[in-house]
Amino acid sequence: MFLLAGRRAPVFPTAASARGGHAITRVDGIEDRPVDPQNIYDDPGFFAGYSTLERFGAGWERAVEHADLLALLPDVDGRRVLDLGCGAGQLARHLATTGAAEVVGVDVSERMLALARAEWAHPRVTYRREAVEQVMFPPARFDLVVSSLVLHYVADYRGVVSRIAGWLAPNGVLVYSTEHPIYTGRLPGDGWVLDDAGQRTRWALDHYADEGPRQETCFVPGVRKVHRTTATPINGLLDAGPLVERVADALTS
Ligand SMILES: C[S@@+](CC[C@H](N)C(=O)[O-])C[C@H]1O[C@@H](n2cnc3c(N)ncnc32)[C@H](O)[C@@H]1O
Repeated sequence: MFLLAGRRAPVFPTAASARGGHAITRVDGIEDRPVDPQNIYDDPGFFAGYSTLERFGAGWERAVEHADLLALLPDVDGRRVLDLGCGAGQLARHLATTGAAEVVGVDVSERMLALARAEWAHPRVTYRREAVEQVMFPPARFDLVVSSLVLHYVADYRGVVSRIAGWLAPNGVLVYSTEHPIYTGRLPGDGWVLDDAGQRTRWALDHYADEGPRQETCFVPGVRKVHRTTATPINGLLDAGPLVERVADALTS
């Protein structure tokens, strides 16, 4: 996984104008574009497969990037938090139990939200069904935006981070994780190169420089993701306004 933390400048209008004031302008432009969000988590076959993963339930604390993600989070006490692509709601509830004043969890999948409402509810968490590409909030609505393993499904990265920048209050923080570019970089198929005995020998990173859509079989065929090289998310965030504070690689060897 690839993790990134950025912070909106304390006096945002000055920072934005120093960069040509484009952050908010892009937000307006993006809202008009047609989008086609994928909702693969409501596919019965995909959901059945995903449900078998340890990270799906209480095992989310043993996920490879868990410690890095928590380390990047600021103190949430009294903060207003948005969890984009909240899934089953483990992180949203964790943030509420550690002191967030409110957490809004947004996800496109009815199945994931049903689980979140049933098993990861909290009085200060509200779950809302919407796509990342379409959801709207007033300016400066949140102190913290988190998004765990969602943005590799979203085609318009620059549009999304520009909109997030607008939703952040001054000094607000964005922390997100995404599928690592060394995984999305390959063309469809298993990236492992096997020896004659079927043992994994190395990972085939064959199309890292070719940014764009990928389709893979992950429980079901036709799961859409987007590959971006390491520089693109960092530069996209900087162009949208937030200052990048920290980047982390969470990989198994
Ligand atoms: C890998 S799961 C991660 C769930 C949760 N954030 C976590 O870390 O456990 C990806 C989640 O993103 C949601 N998702 C994917 N694309 C989305 C989109 N365009 N808009 C809203 N949610 C989306 C899926 O429905 C799913 O719940």
